[in-house]
Amino acid sequence: MTTLGTPLSPNATRVMLLGAGELGKEVLIALQRLGVETIAVDRYDHAPGHQVAHRAHTIPMNDPVQLRALIESECPSLVVPEIEAIATAELQALEAEGKVRVVPTARAARLTMDREGIRRLAAETLGLPTSPYRFCDSLEQLRFAIEGGGEGVDAGAIGYPCLVKPVMSSSGKGQSRINRPDEIEAAWDHAMHGGRVSGGRVIVEGFIDFEYEITLLTVRARGPGGQIETSFCEPIGHVQVGGDYVESWQPQAMSPVALERAQQICRTVTDDLGRGLNGEPAGLGLFGVELFVRGDQVWFSEVSPRPHDTGLVTLATQWQSEFELHARAILGLPVDTRLRNAGASAVIYGGLDAPAIEFTGLEQALAVPGSDLRLFGKPESFVKRRMGVALAHGPDTETARNRAKESASLVKPRLATECDALATGVDTPHVA
Ligand SMILES: Nc1ncnc2c1ncn2[C@@H]1O[C@H](COP(=O)(O)OP(=O)(O)OP(=O)(O)O)[C@@H](O)[C@H]1O
Ligand SMILES: [Mg+2]
Repeated sequence: MTTLGTPLSPNATRVMLLGAGELGKEVLIALQRLGVETIAVDRYDHAPGHQVAHRAHTIPMNDPVQLRALIESECPSLVVPEIEAIATAELQALEAEGKVRVVPTARAARLTMDREGIRRLAAETLGLPTSPYRFCDSLEQLRFAIEGGGEGVDAGAIGYPCLVKPVMSSSGKGQSRINRPDEIEAAWDHAMHGGRVSGGRVIVEGFIDFEYEITLLTVRARGPGGQIETSFCEPIGHVQVGGDYVESWQPQAMSPVALERAQQICRTVTDDLGRGLNGEPAGLGLFGVELFVRGDQVWFSEVSPRPHDTGLVTLATQWQSEFELHARAILGLPVDTRLRNAGASAVIYGGLDAPAIEFTGLEQALAVPGSDLRLFGKPESFVKRRMGVALAHGPDTETARNRAKESASLVKPRLATECDALATGVDTPHVA
């Protein structure tokens, strides 16, 4: 049975978010609505989630000493990782010491923090279908993995086209596609500069010629009898440009066979990531499982044990958004994953490098039928930084997509007013 206390009192239910970007901000708002005391942590001041939490802290979350000190001083009932780049080994230690419960489990946070842990688990331990892949630590190994030439299981040949990604990176950073042998070196150099940590390790993956890709939001929450149950949201279709999401919609139509396979893959991977210290089912929360689909064929790509950026669309489509589902599930409360109506989301990029920008065109953007906006309040804009999202509902996904894209295109980020002259001609990049 879940009991929720009173915030800022001795019986408060305290939840700490590690990472307080736009996704964390929405989780924090959902928690606030249930009277939870919230603590937002990020590596820079005034992050979106800092602005809506009871307390805000700024630390490098990959520093195990600072992370432990903060958790020990705040004593949260739950720690919720919102990003991958955190000291997950320290979280595992704190969980083992019984000092904190990590969502969904510290092991899941650790396994999904780089591409190697989760890929090996999915493909080698769980036997799920994935793209062919190899891990490489040098340009020579990469060449060998793509072109082959050796013997035995290491003989390689991933072949062309293929994709190279740093093992530690997200949002497509450091990622490139290789079509020909003379592109290998540039892809290696790009990966060395784009990753989060300059560890020098990459994954090379065979290119999957998918028809469409989806995120299947999968929730582990307590059912009426207190047992953990798995439920699924309707599939979310999305478009990625350079490995970064620019547009998503829900529902994405799928054949019954493909949907059944997709759900089976999600159940398998989340059952495993939800296992506790002694293998018992323990982990609660929402997972974003990324899958590639062609006809009835489905491949597992990756999974985030937390709300997913493409799932922002659920703010416009479901009775409970992915953020509300996550908040309820981690607190041990029941969830409802049903779709309310079709809808779509389209990303609003900063379009310029500057602190404290402003947005115009809001009246026009919000005049688009069925539209809504989220501006994340990030203190600094970069050309390719996601600063907001346009949402839209509609009678069908096609209409909703057009509405969301139109609404996003009408929002114009610009420099602060006194710099108007400089801002002339600055336009928002948007999805064509
Ligand atoms: N093996 C593959 N075959 C075909 N396309 C792929 C493959 N791997 C990745 N992609 C494409 O690149 C996109 C980004 O890849 P991936 O999800 O691995 O990167 P990421 O950096 O983790 O991105 P994000 O953080 O946005 O999820 C995928 O959504 C897909 O469109
Ligand atoms: Mg991805």
